[in-house]
Amino acid sequence: MKILGIETSCDETAASVVEDGVKILSNVVVSQIDIFAEYGGVIPEVAARSHLEAMMPVIDKALADAGCSWDDIDAIAVTHAPGLLGSLLIGTLTARTLAILHDKPLYAVHHLKSHVYANWLVETRVLTEPIFSDARLEFSSTSYAGRPGKTAPRGSFLGAVRNIRVENSNHVMHPKKQVSATRVPTFPLLALVVSGGHTQILYMPGHNRFEIVGTTRDDAVGECFDKVAKILGLPYPGGPAIAAATEGHPILLGHAQGRSAKPTVLERQDDLQPGNPNRYPLPHPKIYGLDFSFSGLKTAVLRAVQKEVGVPISYPSHKLKELLSEQQVCDFAASFQKTAVDILVEKLKKAMEQFPDTKSIVVAGGVSANKTLRDALSNAYFPAPSLSGDNGAMVAAACYYEIQSGVKPVDPYKLNIYPRIDIAQH
Ligand code: KG4
Ligand code: ZN
Repeated sequence: MKILGIETSCDETAASVVEDGVKILSNVVVSQIDIFAEYGGVIPEVAARSHLEAMMPVIDKALADAGCSWDDIDAIAVTHAPGLLGSLLIGTLTARTLAILHDKPLYAVHHLKSHVYANWLVETRVLTEPIFSDARLEFSSTSYAGRPGKTAPRGSFLGAVRNIRVENSNHVMHPKKQVSATRVPTFPLLALVVSGGHTQILYMPGHNRFEIVGTTRDDAVGECFDKVAKILGLPYPGGPAIAAATEGHPILLGHAQGRSAKPTVLERQDDLQPGNPNRYPLPHPKIYGLDFSFSGLKTAVLRAVQKEVGVPISYPSHKLKELLSEQQVCDFAASFQKTAVDILVEKLKKAMEQFPDTKSIVVAGGVSANKTLRDALSNAYFPAPSLSGDNGAMVAAACYYEIQSGVKPVDPYKLNIYPRIDIAQH
Protein backbone atom coordinates (compact mmCIF):
# COMPACT_ATOMS: atom_id res chain seq x y z
CA MET A 1 0.00 0.00 0.00
CA LYS A 2 1.44 3.34 -1.10
CA ILE A 3 0.29 6.39 0.84
CA LEU A 4 0.94 10.02 -0.07
CA GLY A 5 1.48 11.97 3.19
CA ILE A 6 1.00 15.75 3.23
CA GLU A 7 2.15 17.98 6.09
CA THR A 8 1.70 21.76 6.47
CA SER A 9 0.87 22.29 10.14
CA CYS A 10 3.56 24.90 10.84
CA ASP A 11 6.40 26.22 8.68
CA GLU A 12 7.39 23.19 6.61
CA THR A 13 5.63 22.26 3.36
CA ALA A 14 6.16 18.52 3.01
CA ALA A 15 5.01 15.52 0.99
CA SER A 16 6.18 11.94 0.87
CA VAL A 17 5.24 8.55 -0.53
CA VAL A 18 5.60 5.69 1.96
CA GLU A 19 5.00 2.01 1.26
CA ASP A 20 3.35 -0.15 3.94
CA GLY A 21 4.00 2.37 6.70
CA VAL A 22 7.75 1.84 6.79
CA LYS A 23 9.45 2.22 3.44
CA ILE A 24 10.14 5.80 2.35
CA LEU A 25 9.97 6.10 -1.44
CA SER A 26 10.31 9.88 -1.44
CA ASN A 27 10.43 12.65 1.14
CA VAL A 28 10.34 16.28 0.08
CA VAL A 29 10.52 19.03 2.69
CA VAL A 30 10.47 22.74 1.90
CA SER A 31 11.39 24.70 4.98
CA GLN A 32 10.49 28.34 5.58
CA ILE A 33 13.14 28.68 8.27
CA ASP A 34 15.13 31.24 6.33
CA ILE A 35 12.14 33.57 6.14
CA PHE A 36 11.35 33.30 9.83
CA ALA A 37 14.96 33.52 11.01
CA GLU A 38 14.72 37.11 9.82
CA TYR A 39 11.72 37.77 12.04
CA GLY A 40 12.71 35.62 15.02
CA GLY A 41 9.60 33.43 14.78
CA VAL A 42 6.79 32.17 12.58
CA ILE A 43 4.27 34.67 11.19
CA PRO A 44 1.14 32.57 10.53
CA GLU A 45 -0.15 34.47 7.48
CA VAL A 46 3.27 34.42 5.84
CA ALA A 47 3.57 30.68 6.55
CA ALA A 48 0.17 30.02 4.90
CA ARG A 49 1.11 32.01 1.81
CA SER A 50 4.41 30.17 1.49
CA HIS A 51 2.61 26.81 1.81
CA LEU A 52 0.32 27.86 -1.01
CA GLU A 53 3.30 28.59 -3.26
CA ALA A 54 5.21 25.43 -2.45
CA MET A 55 2.42 22.86 -2.02
CA MET A 56 1.86 21.56 -5.55
CA PRO A 57 5.53 21.58 -6.63
CA VAL A 58 6.35 19.64 -3.45
CA ILE A 59 3.64 17.03 -4.11
CA ASP A 60 4.65 16.69 -7.77
CA LYS A 61 8.28 16.19 -6.69
CA ALA A 62 7.31 13.60 -4.07
CA LEU A 63 5.45 11.57 -6.71
CA ALA A 64 8.26 11.93 -9.26
CA ASP A 65 10.98 10.97 -6.74
CA ALA A 66 8.98 7.88 -5.80
CA GLY A 67 8.53 6.99 -9.46
CA CYS A 68 4.76 6.98 -8.94
CA SER A 69 1.83 8.18 -10.97
CA TRP A 70 -1.53 8.87 -9.34
CA ASP A 71 -2.62 5.34 -10.32
CA ASP A 72 0.01 3.92 -7.94
CA ILE A 73 -1.24 5.88 -4.91
CA ASP A 74 -3.68 3.96 -2.69
CA ALA A 75 -4.56 6.73 -0.22
CA ILE A 76 -3.87 10.35 0.71
CA ALA A 77 -3.09 11.31 4.32
CA VAL A 78 -3.02 14.89 5.55
CA THR A 79 -2.39 16.66 8.86
CA HIS A 80 -5.64 18.33 9.93
CA ALA A 81 -4.84 18.98 13.61
CA PRO A 82 -3.30 20.64 15.58
CA GLY A 83 -1.28 23.52 14.13
CA LEU A 84 -1.56 26.99 12.63
CA LEU A 85 -5.02 27.58 11.18
CA GLY A 86 -3.95 29.01 7.82
CA SER A 87 -1.20 26.44 7.40
CA LEU A 88 -3.53 23.51 8.12
CA LEU A 89 -6.07 24.95 5.66
CA ILE A 90 -3.64 24.91 2.74
CA GLY A 91 -2.64 21.26 3.30
CA THR A 92 -6.15 20.00 3.91
CA LEU A 93 -7.76 21.90 1.02
CA THR A 94 -5.09 20.57 -1.32
CA ALA A 95 -5.53 17.00 -0.05
CA ARG A 96 -9.32 17.23 -0.29
CA THR A 97 -9.16 18.51 -3.86
CA LEU A 98 -6.67 15.83 -4.93
CA ALA A 99 -8.71 13.08 -3.25
CA ILE A 100 -11.82 14.14 -5.18
CA LEU A 101 -9.95 14.67 -8.44
CA HIS A 102 -8.11 11.36 -8.38
CA ASP A 103 -10.79 9.41 -6.50
CA LYS A 104 -8.56 8.36 -3.59
CA PRO A 105 -9.55 7.63 0.01
CA LEU A 106 -8.56 10.54 2.27
CA TYR A 107 -7.35 10.17 5.86
CA ALA A 108 -7.02 12.99 8.41
CA VAL A 109 -4.09 12.56 10.78
CA HIS A 110 -3.22 14.18 14.12
CA HIS A 111 0.22 15.83 14.04
CA LEU A 112 1.54 14.29 17.26
CA LYS A 113 0.48 10.82 16.12
CA SER A 114 2.58 11.41 13.01
CA HIS A 115 5.61 12.42 15.07
CA VAL A 116 5.29 9.22 17.12
CA TYR A 117 5.01 7.06 13.98
CA ALA A 118 8.24 8.53 12.56
CA ASN A 119 9.78 5.87 14.81
CA TRP A 120 8.38 3.07 12.65
CA LEU A 121 9.90 4.39 9.44
CA VAL A 122 12.88 2.37 8.32
CA GLU A 123 16.06 4.21 9.07
CA THR A 124 17.65 4.83 5.73
CA ARG A 125 20.51 6.66 4.18
CA VAL A 126 19.53 10.24 3.60
CA LEU A 127 20.86 12.26 0.70
CA THR A 128 20.60 15.96 1.26
CA GLU A 129 21.60 17.27 -2.16
CA PRO A 130 19.56 20.39 -2.91
CA ILE A 131 17.59 19.17 -5.89
CA PHE A 132 15.45 22.29 -6.21
CA SER A 133 18.14 24.71 -7.12
CA ASP A 134 18.10 28.08 -8.81
CA ALA A 135 15.69 28.30 -11.70
CA ARG A 136 14.51 24.71 -11.74
CA LEU A 137 11.64 25.43 -9.42
CA GLU A 138 9.88 28.58 -10.42
CA PHE A 139 7.01 29.97 -8.46
CA SER A 140 4.56 31.99 -10.47
CA SER A 141 3.65 34.21 -7.55
CA THR A 142 4.69 37.81 -7.72
CA SER A 143 4.95 38.17 -4.00
CA TYR A 144 7.36 36.84 -1.48
CA ALA A 145 6.76 36.46 2.22
CA GLY A 146 3.62 38.52 2.07
CA ARG A 147 5.37 41.48 0.52
CA PRO A 148 3.83 42.19 -2.90
CA GLY A 149 6.24 42.78 -5.70
CA LYS A 150 9.21 41.43 -3.80
CA THR A 151 10.77 38.31 -5.22
CA ALA A 152 12.55 35.77 -3.13
CA PRO A 153 16.18 36.69 -2.70
CA ARG A 154 18.83 34.05 -3.07
CA GLY A 155 19.41 32.23 0.16
CA SER A 156 15.91 33.01 1.31
CA PHE A 157 12.71 31.09 0.66
CA LEU A 158 13.67 29.53 -2.64
CA GLY A 159 17.26 29.10 -1.54
CA ALA A 160 16.03 27.43 1.62
CA VAL A 161 14.19 24.75 -0.27
CA ARG A 162 15.50 21.49 1.00
CA ASN A 163 14.83 18.26 -0.74
CA ILE A 164 15.56 15.18 1.23
CA ARG A 165 15.59 12.12 -0.93
CA VAL A 166 15.73 8.91 0.97
CA GLU A 167 17.13 5.81 -0.62
CA ASN A 168 15.88 2.63 0.77
CA SER A 169 17.83 -0.10 -0.94
CA ASN A 170 19.72 -2.16 1.59
CA HIS A 171 23.07 -1.99 -0.13
CA VAL A 172 23.41 1.75 0.44
CA MET A 173 22.84 1.42 4.16
CA HIS A 174 25.59 1.27 6.70
CA PRO A 175 25.63 -2.28 8.13
CA LYS A 176 25.13 -0.93 11.66
CA LYS A 177 22.16 1.12 10.55
CA GLN A 178 20.56 -1.95 8.99
CA VAL A 179 20.42 -3.62 12.40
CA SER A 180 18.64 -0.70 14.01
CA ALA A 181 16.28 -0.43 11.04
CA THR A 182 14.78 -3.80 11.87
CA ARG A 183 14.17 -2.90 15.52
CA VAL A 184 10.65 -1.68 16.07
CA PRO A 185 9.15 -0.42 19.33
CA THR A 186 7.07 -2.94 21.30
CA PHE A 187 3.86 -2.27 23.25
CA PRO A 188 2.93 -1.08 25.74
CA LEU A 189 5.16 1.92 25.27
CA LEU A 190 5.66 5.42 26.57
CA ALA A 191 6.13 8.19 24.01
CA LEU A 192 7.80 11.46 24.93
CA VAL A 193 6.58 14.01 22.40
CA VAL A 194 8.72 17.14 22.40
CA SER A 195 8.04 19.76 19.75
CA GLY A 196 7.60 23.49 19.30
CA GLY A 197 3.96 23.29 20.35
CA HIS A 198 3.76 20.24 22.62
CA THR A 199 5.46 18.46 25.49
CA GLN A 200 3.61 15.32 26.46
CA ILE A 201 4.12 11.81 27.73
CA LEU A 202 1.76 9.38 26.02
CA TYR A 203 0.99 5.82 27.05
CA MET A 204 0.34 3.56 24.05
CA PRO A 205 -1.02 0.10 24.88
CA GLY A 206 -1.11 -0.74 21.14
CA HIS A 207 -1.15 0.76 17.68
CA ASN A 208 -3.24 3.90 17.31
CA ARG A 209 -4.21 4.01 21.02
CA PHE A 210 -3.05 7.00 23.01
CA GLU A 211 -3.51 8.12 26.59
CA ILE A 212 -2.02 11.45 27.70
CA VAL A 213 -0.33 10.81 31.05
CA GLY A 214 1.68 14.04 31.30
CA THR A 215 1.51 17.39 29.54
CA THR A 216 2.95 20.88 29.84
CA ARG A 217 0.97 23.37 31.88
CA ASP A 218 2.42 26.32 29.98
CA ASP A 219 5.19 26.47 27.35
CA ALA A 220 6.38 23.53 25.25
CA VAL A 221 10.03 22.58 25.57
CA GLY A 222 10.78 23.53 21.91
CA GLU A 223 9.14 26.90 22.51
CA CYS A 224 11.41 27.30 25.55
CA PHE A 225 14.49 26.58 23.38
CA ASP A 226 13.21 29.22 20.94
CA LYS A 227 12.59 31.85 23.67
CA VAL A 228 15.89 31.26 25.46
CA ALA A 229 17.69 31.51 22.10
CA LYS A 230 16.09 34.92 21.59
CA ILE A 231 17.33 36.14 24.99
CA LEU A 232 20.84 34.96 24.09
CA GLY A 233 20.74 36.60 20.64
CA LEU A 234 20.61 33.28 18.79
CA PRO A 235 18.38 32.88 15.72
CA TYR A 236 15.06 31.06 15.20
CA PRO A 237 14.61 28.13 15.44
CA GLY A 238 16.30 28.14 18.80
CA GLY A 239 16.84 24.39 19.21
CA PRO A 240 19.58 23.87 16.62
CA ALA A 241 21.10 27.29 17.43
CA ILE A 242 21.36 26.44 21.14
CA ALA A 243 22.77 23.01 20.34
CA ALA A 244 25.45 24.64 18.12
CA ALA A 245 26.29 27.20 20.81
CA THR A 246 26.80 24.47 23.43
CA GLU A 247 29.54 23.13 21.19
CA GLY A 248 31.23 26.51 20.98
CA HIS A 249 29.73 27.53 17.62
CA PRO A 250 27.35 30.37 18.38
CA ILE A 251 25.27 31.52 15.43
CA LEU A 252 24.94 35.05 16.60
CA LEU A 253 22.34 37.60 15.70
CA GLY A 254 22.57 41.23 16.43
CA HIS A 255 25.94 41.51 18.16
CA ALA A 256 27.43 43.61 15.45
CA GLN A 257 24.75 43.31 12.81
CA GLY A 258 21.61 44.84 14.24
CA ARG A 259 18.30 43.30 15.20
CA SER A 260 16.99 42.09 11.87
CA ALA A 261 20.31 40.88 10.52
CA LYS A 262 20.39 37.43 9.01
CA PRO A 263 22.06 34.76 11.11
CA THR A 264 25.77 34.49 10.62
CA VAL A 265 27.78 31.47 11.59
CA LEU A 266 30.86 32.96 13.15
CA GLU A 267 34.20 31.33 12.89
CA ARG A 268 34.95 29.54 16.08
CA GLN A 269 37.57 31.54 17.91
CA ASP A 270 40.55 29.83 19.44
CA ASP A 271 39.77 31.01 22.93
CA LEU A 272 36.06 30.00 22.72
CA GLN A 273 35.40 26.83 24.70
CA PRO A 274 32.39 24.53 24.30
CA GLY A 275 29.59 25.66 26.61
CA ASN A 276 30.00 24.77 30.29
CA PRO A 277 26.68 23.19 31.39
CA ASN A 278 27.51 23.75 35.07
CA ARG A 279 28.39 27.44 34.96
CA TYR A 280 24.85 28.74 35.54
CA PRO A 281 22.78 26.41 37.74
CA LEU A 282 19.09 26.68 36.85
CA PRO A 283 16.12 25.44 38.89
CA HIS A 284 13.83 22.49 38.04
CA PRO A 285 10.11 23.30 38.27
CA LYS A 286 8.30 21.73 41.20
CA ILE A 287 5.36 20.16 39.41
CA TYR A 288 3.75 17.15 41.04
CA GLY A 289 3.12 14.06 38.90
CA LEU A 290 4.00 13.72 35.23
CA ASP A 291 3.14 17.24 34.05
CA PHE A 292 5.76 19.70 32.85
CA SER A 293 6.26 23.44 33.12
CA PHE A 294 8.82 25.34 31.05
CA SER A 295 7.85 29.00 31.39
CA GLY A 296 9.68 29.24 34.75
CA LEU A 297 12.89 27.91 33.19
CA LYS A 298 12.76 30.61 30.50
CA THR A 299 12.33 33.28 33.20
CA ALA A 300 15.13 31.73 35.26
CA VAL A 301 17.49 32.08 32.28
CA LEU A 302 16.36 35.69 31.81
CA ARG A 303 17.04 36.53 35.47
CA ALA A 304 20.40 34.72 35.45
CA VAL A 305 21.50 36.65 32.34
CA GLN A 306 20.40 39.97 33.87
CA LYS A 307 22.32 39.12 37.05
CA GLU A 308 25.41 38.03 35.11
CA VAL A 309 25.64 41.26 33.11
CA GLY A 310 24.67 43.41 36.12
CA VAL A 311 21.39 45.01 34.99
CA PRO A 312 18.05 45.28 36.84
CA ILE A 313 15.13 42.93 36.09
CA SER A 314 13.35 45.77 34.29
CA TYR A 315 16.11 45.79 31.61
CA PRO A 316 14.62 44.90 28.19
CA SER A 317 15.32 41.28 27.31
CA HIS A 318 16.00 42.02 23.61
CA LYS A 319 18.96 44.22 24.56
CA LEU A 320 20.70 41.68 26.79
CA LYS A 321 22.49 39.99 23.89
CA GLU A 322 24.57 43.13 23.35
CA LEU A 323 26.03 42.74 26.84
CA LEU A 324 26.89 39.04 26.66
CA SER A 325 30.26 37.71 25.57
CA GLU A 326 30.30 34.78 23.15
CA GLN A 327 31.61 32.53 25.91
CA GLN A 328 28.75 33.55 28.18
CA VAL A 329 26.29 32.75 25.35
CA CYS A 330 27.80 29.27 24.94
CA ASP A 331 27.76 28.65 28.70
CA PHE A 332 24.16 29.84 29.10
CA ALA A 333 23.12 27.68 26.13
CA ALA A 334 24.78 24.60 27.65
CA SER A 335 23.41 25.26 31.15
CA PHE A 336 19.89 25.70 29.78
CA GLN A 337 20.07 22.66 27.50
CA LYS A 338 21.31 20.43 30.32
CA THR A 339 18.48 21.59 32.61
CA ALA A 340 15.80 21.15 29.94
CA VAL A 341 17.04 17.63 29.10
CA ASP A 342 17.31 16.70 32.80
CA ILE A 343 13.70 17.80 33.37
CA LEU A 344 12.48 15.64 30.46
CA VAL A 345 14.48 12.60 31.55
CA GLU A 346 13.38 12.96 35.19
CA LYS A 347 9.69 12.93 34.21
CA LEU A 348 10.14 10.04 31.82
CA LYS A 349 11.76 7.99 34.60
CA LYS A 350 8.82 8.81 36.86
CA ALA A 351 6.42 7.71 34.10
CA MET A 352 8.26 4.39 33.76
CA GLU A 353 7.83 3.79 37.51
CA GLN A 354 4.13 4.56 37.16
CA PHE A 355 3.77 2.25 34.15
CA PRO A 356 5.97 -0.73 35.03
CA ASP A 357 4.65 -2.77 32.07
CA THR A 358 6.37 -0.36 29.64
CA LYS A 359 8.39 -2.27 27.04
CA SER A 360 9.75 0.62 24.92
CA ILE A 361 10.39 4.33 25.14
CA VAL A 362 9.82 6.35 21.99
CA VAL A 363 10.88 9.98 21.58
CA ALA A 364 9.31 12.17 18.90
CA GLY A 365 8.97 15.77 17.66
CA GLY A 366 11.44 18.46 16.62
CA VAL A 367 13.35 18.46 19.93
CA SER A 368 14.07 14.72 19.50
CA ALA A 369 16.84 15.86 17.11
CA ASN A 370 18.74 17.10 20.18
CA LYS A 371 21.95 15.16 20.67
CA THR A 372 22.15 15.70 24.43
CA LEU A 373 18.64 14.25 24.77
CA ARG A 374 19.60 11.31 22.52
CA ASP A 375 22.71 10.65 24.62
CA ALA A 376 20.69 10.85 27.85
CA LEU A 377 18.13 8.28 26.61
CA SER A 378 20.40 5.83 24.85
CA ASN A 379 17.92 2.92 25.10
CA ALA A 380 14.99 4.84 23.67
CA TYR A 381 13.79 4.86 20.08
CA PHE A 382 14.43 8.09 18.18
CA PRO A 383 13.50 8.86 14.57
CA ALA A 384 16.39 9.34 12.14
CA PRO A 385 17.44 12.97 12.78
CA SER A 386 16.11 14.00 9.36
CA LEU A 387 12.68 12.67 10.39
CA SER A 388 12.55 14.39 13.81
CA GLY A 389 11.14 17.63 12.40
CA ASP A 390 7.97 18.00 10.39
CA ASN A 391 7.76 15.83 7.25
CA GLY A 392 5.20 14.00 5.12
CA ALA A 393 6.63 10.49 5.63
CA MET A 394 5.52 10.36 9.25
CA VAL A 395 1.99 11.41 8.22
CA ALA A 396 1.83 8.51 5.74
CA ALA A 397 3.23 6.10 8.37
CA ALA A 398 0.64 7.17 10.97
CA CYS A 399 -2.12 6.80 8.36
CA TYR A 400 -1.00 3.27 7.52
CA TYR A 401 -1.38 2.18 11.16
CA GLU A 402 -4.74 3.97 11.38
CA ILE A 403 -5.95 1.93 8.40
CA GLN A 404 -4.59 -1.26 10.02
CA SER A 405 -6.54 -0.33 13.17
CA GLY A 406 -9.80 -0.02 11.24
CA VAL A 407 -10.01 3.77 10.90
CA LYS A 408 -12.23 4.78 7.99
CA PRO A 409 -11.52 7.48 5.38
CA VAL A 410 -13.05 10.92 5.84
CA ASP A 411 -15.42 12.71 3.46
CA PRO A 412 -13.23 14.94 1.26
CA TYR A 413 -16.14 17.37 0.86
CA LYS A 414 -16.42 17.84 4.62
CA LEU A 415 -12.99 17.45 6.26
CA ASN A 416 -12.44 20.11 8.92
CA ILE A 417 -9.30 21.39 10.61
CA TYR A 418 -8.71 21.56 14.37
CA PRO A 419 -5.91 23.98 15.29
CA ARG A 420 -6.07 22.85 18.94
CA ILE A 421 -7.20 19.36 19.77
CA ASP A 422 -5.69 16.68 22.01
CA ILE A 423 -4.50 13.40 20.57
CA ALA A 424 -6.78 11.52 22.98
CA GLN A 425 -9.93 13.38 21.78
CA HIS A 426 -9.04 12.94 18.14
O1 KG4 B 1 8.13 19.13 15.55
P1 KG4 B 1 8.62 20.43 15.09
O2 KG4 B 1 9.48 20.46 13.85
O3 KG4 B 1 7.44 21.41 14.85
C1 KG4 B 1 6.33 21.40 15.73
O4 KG4 B 1 5.48 20.50 15.59
O5 KG4 B 1 6.33 22.26 16.64
O6 KG4 B 1 9.43 21.08 16.30
C2 KG4 B 1 10.03 22.34 16.20
C3 KG4 B 1 10.78 22.61 17.48
C4 KG4 B 1 11.34 24.04 17.54
O7 KG4 B 1 10.96 24.61 18.77
C5 KG4 B 1 12.85 23.83 17.47
O8 KG4 B 1 13.58 24.82 18.16
C6 KG4 B 1 13.01 22.47 18.10
O9 KG4 B 1 11.91 21.73 17.61
N1 KG4 B 1 14.27 21.81 17.71
C7 KG4 B 1 15.24 21.46 18.58
C8 KG4 B 1 16.31 20.93 17.82
N2 KG4 B 1 15.93 20.94 16.50
C9 KG4 B 1 14.68 21.49 16.45
N3 KG4 B 1 15.31 21.60 19.91
C10 KG4 B 1 16.43 21.17 20.52
N4 KG4 B 1 17.50 20.65 19.87
C11 KG4 B 1 17.48 20.51 18.52
N5 KG4 B 1 18.54 20.00 17.89
ZN1 ZN C 1 5.87 18.94 14.52
